[in-house]
Amino acid sequence: MPVSVVQTADGVRAALASRRGSGPIGLVPTMGALHAGHARLIEEARHECVTVAVSIFVNPLQFDRADDLARYSRPFEADLALCETLSVDVVFAPTAADMYPEPLDCTVHVGRTAEHLCGAFRPGHFNGVATVVLKLFNVVQPDVAYFGEKDAQQLAIIRRMVADLNVPVRIAPVATVREADGLALSSRNQHLNAAERALAPALFHALGVVRDAIAAGNADAAALKRQASESIPADGRLRLEYLELVDPWTFQPVDRVSGPVVAAGALWVGSTRLIDNIRCTPP
Ligand code: PAJ
Repeated sequence: MPVSVVQTADGVRAALASRRGSGPIGLVPTMGALHAGHARLIEEARHECVTVAVSIFVNPLQFDRADDLARYSRPFEADLALCETLSVDVVFAPTAADMYPEPLDCTVHVGRTAEHLCGAFRPGHFNGVATVVLKLFNVVQPDVAYFGEKDAQQLAIIRRMVADLNVPVRIAPVATVREADGLALSSRNQHLNAAERALAPALFHALGVVRDAIAAGNADAAALKRQASESIPADGRLRLEYLELVDPWTFQPVDRVSGPVVAAGALWVGSTRLIDNIRCTPP
């Protein structure tokens, strides 16, 4: 069966009506520009669910910079072809006017989980993410929704939203897909020129420094963060926005590492902002 492409909430309901009841429906929310990271989420959904829906929507509500929204790539035909290859059943690709026919008056407000890391540097970003994800859940009404660990704070926030608001969707985490040199796949990697691409794995390496030091018994967060930022090459094109050690569930920074933590960072490479994180465990 070819993938059915629908643009409206009514279209989704109609496309899924006959499938409900025949087994779990999985949803993979995306902003398009699909790559092997997204493909991993879709494969996981295909493996576990009878029906797989992928949403493709560049959500204006979650962009804090107009230039980032304007240059976000939208290769819709290629995205569709990948969805076909991966045997997706339904692609939901609304326009901004379909999703937001009028300015929203009711939105999701995220509290402490959004206070630090990306939440601190991108005002309103996670409220926009949580709001659109709740809308997507209400339109598709999936049994399971797949999210990448690549965006660990986003994953933690969605888990928290689902728990706090009794949203009847199981959240399935999927491990980060990386290039051979460690760089996490991201739609924004395509903005890097060759020299910047060569510098970009610096963030993953810095996080690896933290992971190794924690595994060796270093527990002082300030010292760990200093070590990590010193490992980033002194190059005018690189600017570390943050590198933080946080509790994996609350995303509150820790001063001392006494259990599993997430080491997360944001690195500007030229005019491109990259994020990454890894789970670290003390001995
Ligand atoms: P987007 O950046 O398109 O990512 C869609 C999903 O793919 C997210 O769950 C993200 O964590 C996952 N993903 C991206 N790169 C990955 C990688 N290298 N390995 C594994 N998973 C990866 O995240 C969003 O869109 C939006 O915020 C969205 C949730 C769709 C709401 O608008």
